Amino acid sequence: MKRTFKTALAAACMATAATTWVVAPTAAAAADAAPFKIGLIVPMTGPFASTGKQIDAAVKLYMQQHGTTVDGRTIQVILRDDGGLQPENTKRIAQEMVVQDKVNVLAGFGLTPLAFAAAPVATQAKIPMVVMAAATSSIVKKSPYIVRTSQTLPQVTAPLADWAAKNPKIKSVITLITDYGPGHDAEKVFIKHFTDGGGKILESIRVPLQNPDFAPFLQRVRDAKPDAVFVFVPSGPGIALMKQFKDKGLAKAGIQIIGTGDVLDDDLMPSMGNEVEGVVTSQHYSAAHKSPENKAYVAAFEKLTDNKMRPNFMSVGGYDGMHLIYAALKKAGPTATGDQLLAAMKGMHWESPRGPISIDPQTRDIVQNIYLRRAEKVNGQYWNVEFETVPNVKDPGV
Ligand code: PHB
Repeated sequence: MKRTFKTALAAACMATAATTWVVAPTAAAAADAAPFKIGLIVPMTGPFASTGKQIDAAVKLYMQQHGTTVDGRTIQVILRDDGGLQPENTKRIAQEMVVQDKVNVLAGFGLTPLAFAAAPVATQAKIPMVVMAAATSSIVKKSPYIVRTSQTLPQVTAPLADWAAKNPKIKSVITLITDYGPGHDAEKVFIKHFTDGGGKILESIRVPLQNPDFAPFLQRVRDAKPDAVFVFVPSGPGIALMKQFKDKGLAKAGIQIIGTGDVLDDDLMPSMGNEVEGVVTSQHYSAAHKSPENKAYVAAFEKLTDNKMRPNFMSVGGYDGMHLIYAALKKAGPTATGDQLLAAMKGMHWESPRGPISIDPQTRDIVQNIYLRRAEKVNGQYWNVEFETVPNVKDPGV
């Protein structure tokens, strides 16, 4: 698979624009052409639009680099925007894609409630559902057809909590998480690992998912004076959280902020100020990851988006999700059924821009390195610079 990435740039230069790209609703493709259809459901509007835009760009990049056919079968991506916050809407779109568009694979799913809502549709249709973004541990249990290429919050949180417990400057912590599935996972796993390592939790604060205002919660943190505040917010509100952290003077009061990488999302980092300096987070992807594969990926992604976007962890979820689908189709044959594709996906492993990854054949969840990173200014912009790697982390569950 290394070869695939090494030749990626050359392929990108040779590839013409993806001619099969369509934005649904579309007429069903001619039956004789029998394209292989991927129903991509992501938020392209609303507060989580950056997730959809990152995944959409990564899917386009993958097709530009690897072509729009696999063993002679045309690949067609049908993109639908679910707006990000209405599970019933996501479920209806998934049903329409199965019944009307006759998709072979469902993919995307920007947030946990949306993945939960679509899961029964995949089970009933017996087609793989590739979760490229959502990250609550239990998602893979919601359908035997779910395969995940993103992350799980327990997987990312446990290494950070272990690091914090060993840090002599962090003896007491307040957890501050967004009040839904992935936040609950992060809170539980952080508390367990940090207290097992001898640390003390002073308080656990939960912030609403919709229209969050972090200021009153950060004031509570300031008043309680922990050594650090551990945060999880989904990709998007990190800018507001970091700004309010600065405005409330927490750093000046000697309170460190640590968190999962979602808060220092690479998509947002170029717009962040010196409030991020030195902040330690853990995650499976940084655009600053030092590998030739990632260097090529970042350059190609920036080129595709006219230097307007830096790829974030959502983008690699989409890029690797496409790789998984292409590789499964290659392995199982161009007329493979949903069950055959699913079987081909189990146990697959390859080199991603994020590092080596695999799909656990039992759980269908991703196994990957988790990196500890520190925000540092490099060439005028902040980047998450990796300083420690925890290899091959499986989802530990909650
Ligand atoms: C989720 O809803 O599962 C989710 C969304 C965005 C993240 C992490 C988790 O950054």
